[in-house]
Amino acid sequence: MTNKINVGVVGATGVVGQTFLLLLAKREFPFGELRLFASDASKGLKRKVIDREFEVQTLSPGCFKGLDVVFFSSGDDISKDWAPKAVEDGAIAIDNSGAFRMDSEITLCVPEVNGDLLPRLKLGEKPSATPGTPRIIANPNCSTIQLVVALKPLADKYGIDTVRVSSYQSVSGAGKGGIEELLEQTKLALEGETPEKGKTFPKAIAFDCLPQIGAISSTTGFCSEETKIMNESRKILRLADLKVSAFTVRVPTLNSHAETVWVTLKKPASSTAEVERCLASGDGIQVFEGTENYPTQAFASGDDPVYVGRVHKDPIDATTWMMWVVSDNLRKGAALNGIQIAEKIWS
Ligand SMILES: NC(=O)c1ccc[n+]([C@@H]2O[C@H](COP(=O)([O-])OP(=O)(O)OC[C@H]3O[C@@H](n4cnc5c(N)ncnc54)[C@H](OP(=O)(O)O)[C@@H]3O)[C@@H](O)[C@H]2O)c1
Repeated sequence: MTNKINVGVVGATGVVGQTFLLLLAKREFPFGELRLFASDASKGLKRKVIDREFEVQTLSPGCFKGLDVVFFSSGDDISKDWAPKAVEDGAIAIDNSGAFRMDSEITLCVPEVNGDLLPRLKLGEKPSATPGTPRIIANPNCSTIQLVVALKPLADKYGIDTVRVSSYQSVSGAGKGGIEELLEQTKLALEGETPEKGKTFPKAIAFDCLPQIGAISSTTGFCSEETKIMNESRKILRLADLKVSAFTVRVPTLNSHAETVWVTLKKPASSTAEVERCLASGDGIQVFEGTENYPTQAFASGDDPVYVGRVHKDPIDATTWMMWVVSDNLRKGAALNGIQIAEKIWS
């Protein structure tokens, strides 16, 4: 038995993958072997983690053998094909894509909210040697994670009836291509040109907001990001009847997502201070109290918590409270949540 966990990172050269590498080091995750995977284009590149260099490999049959956990962040298709192979090779797959999230057999986990559903292993214990261990764990969508972290203490204390959320999502949520596209188009716009639509976003994003993240359904009018938030929130909070409605917007900020949230409580809260205290009691939340003291996307970037500010009562319904929720989509919205899942499994 060894007290180290052997780790794979698929998508190690992407913005989520690089955040995984940063946080594995920063959080002193007890990794032994570390294998990095990306596309053919990155084969042979080197990445430094703490004081060791690791060479990027491509995926191939048997490439996960000997690993205990593999973090996937290369998109739905790679996860669909390769997460089951990681399991066959003996590992737990923690998947950042949307491939398995709504599968009823798969745990969709935010540790602060439903971490009790995770399997538990001792350091050195192999997932494959422990029968019954769930072997694919899904990481939720980034905008869902920060929302459910903020809702959890309110759900526990008051019960929640209805949630309405509008998002302001940064371009890093669309990967490294999204960041490049905003920077290139902004440069062009500043030079007096009119940027054209690029490969990542449905329209030019420089100095503009796009009310579409993912394909829009001609039947419901919702885009795929909105559907993810609505379905995933009910599953993670274990509130099948929760009324939740989402409207998502891509904004020309580089990193972190913000959300305005209207939450209707089942039991009344007496004051803003009481709601702020309830929120502050939640795991992973930092509350900015008062009126003109609030977190921003730039402030939250490079940081772990889900920040909440501008808490106040809705003037048209005394049981509805409004709040501003901000978090780093690459950290709590992706890599941090994935690592926290692994930390809880092996705690
Ligand atoms: N960005 C976010 O805020 C966020 C939040 C939650 C979940 N996610 C999910 O995380 C995943 C990755 O997102 P990202 O934002 O990090 O995207 P990204 O910056 O575009 O990175 C994509 C990664 O996938 C790799 N890749 C592409 N084709 C591959 C292949 N055939 N085999 C192995 N690796 C391959 C890329 O490698 P190369 O560099 O070699 O091309 C790169 O490392 C997506 O499923 C996304 O939905 C993202």
